Amino acid sequence: MNSYQGSVLWFTGLSGAGKTTTAQYIEKKLREQGRRVELLDGDELRHTICKGLSFSREDRLENVKRITYLSQLLSRNGVDVLVSAITPYNEMREYARQQLSRYVEIYVKCPLHVCEMRDVKGLYAKARAGEINHFTGVSDPFEEPGSPSITLSTSTSTLEQNGQIVLEWLNQSSPYT
Ligand code: PPS
Ligand code: MG
Repeated sequence: MNSYQGSVLWFTGLSGAGKTTTAQYIEKKLREQGRRVELLDGDELRHTICKGLSFSREDRLENVKRITYLSQLLSRNGVDVLVSAITPYNEMREYARQQLSRYVEIYVKCPLHVCEMRDVKGLYAKARAGEINHFTGVSDPFEEPGSPSITLSTSTSTLEQNGQIVLEWLNQSSPYT
């Protein structure tokens, strides 16, 4: 019987901060270490099991509840889960923290103006033009995480440096091994 309980690495941060990119990098590294890993990406899940959910506070919470549930199923079967989702409210992150026994909060920090300058998907421009409502950081809040396990700065550090920080943190945290 496999009694290994997976961890849930929850990447929170603004759109364009680098949640997906960083999580994908860590996913690859953990796979190389022989771990069983799944990446649950908010943006992606909104096309499948979270389809139809809006960006209202209520629907964002519902989104996080579904992702948390999936994370529970996977992690209790020995899979390490990486979640990349904006998760803008403290209430949402507290929900995930309470539901998941090995919740690791990773704040992917990047100033709004840098995310906006990157504007990889052109969403900030649309939000500024009033074409998207409730856009995080522009017309909807992002509450800064109060006590993340790890904070990564994507405007001042490279992907490899941030990846190293997470991998070292995991190696040093005893429940993970
Ligand atoms: S949340 O708040 O955790 O439920 O959001 P999430 O499921 O991670 O979805 C965020 C992605 O949706 C796209 N998008 C928006 N984001 C924020 N606000 C609004 N109004 C919005 N509309 C669409 C956007 O591509 C987000 O992806 P990321 O990867 O964060 O850029
Ligand atoms: Mg993303």
